[in-house]
Amino acid sequence: MDKEQLIEKTVDYVKHNMENGEVGHDWSHVERVWKMAKRIGIEEKADMFIVEMAALLHDVADWKFHGDGAGELKARTWMETIGVKKEDIESIVHVVENISFKGSGEKEKMSTLEGKVTQDADRLDALGAIGIARALTFAGHAGNPIFDPEIKPRSNMKFSEYKESKEPAINHFYEKLLLLKDRMNTKTGRKLAEQRHKFMEIYLEEFFKEWDGKG
Ligand code: ADP
Ligand code: NI
Repeated sequence: MDKEQLIEKTVDYVKHNMENGEVGHDWSHVERVWKMAKRIGIEEKADMFIVEMAALLHDVADWKFHGDGAGELKARTWMETIGVKKEDIESIVHVVENISFKGSGEKEKMSTLEGKVTQDADRLDALGAIGIARALTFAGHAGNPIFDPEIKPRSNMKFSEYKESKEPAINHFYEKLLLLKDRMNTKTGRKLAEQRHKFMEIYLEEFFKEWDGKG
């Protein structure tokens, strides 16, 4: 199979695999990340086969629901099945392994350009209008409130704390979403993140105005 066919096969596999995807990780998320990764990757002159495959496979099994390492294993097994070159499998698995935000106090470990591009694309989908919608959907699904003035956002969260987080949706903006702008890897990603960041700031301003009965 040539690279185009491998990508096509992977699209079908991921689409099928994510039909009943956990909240926030459905095919539409993957499709947006894939599209955005292509846009950033071309701009940044990355190896597009690695970028596209990593974007498609990055959420096949999330650690929050399936445990650490499940995503890497699933992605690797799939790529072995369709005959992706060994060296490419390693590059793609590196991305899948390190893509997730694991708390504001945890260090980033992505070391390749392809990984940085894919991570930026994934992070952009957590920002802006779509990001707001996803955060609210996640909170609703987890049974967390929209906002509670008694519960303050935490900084420098360790992976274990972040994982357990049962916090109001609005706190998630302060614990993750508003921090992402400064953690973007590529110039192209950073520019897009600025715009989405501003939109979230405006949203929060409006939110608190209305919360206080002033809006
Ligand atoms: P990603 O696919 O970028 O790794 P996650 O798996 O961390 O994102 O989360 C999926 C979506 O749910 C993201 O949009 C994220 O911002 C949102 N989310 C994750 N944890 C929370 C939370 N505790 N409260 C609200 N939204 C959350
Ligand atoms: Ni994702």
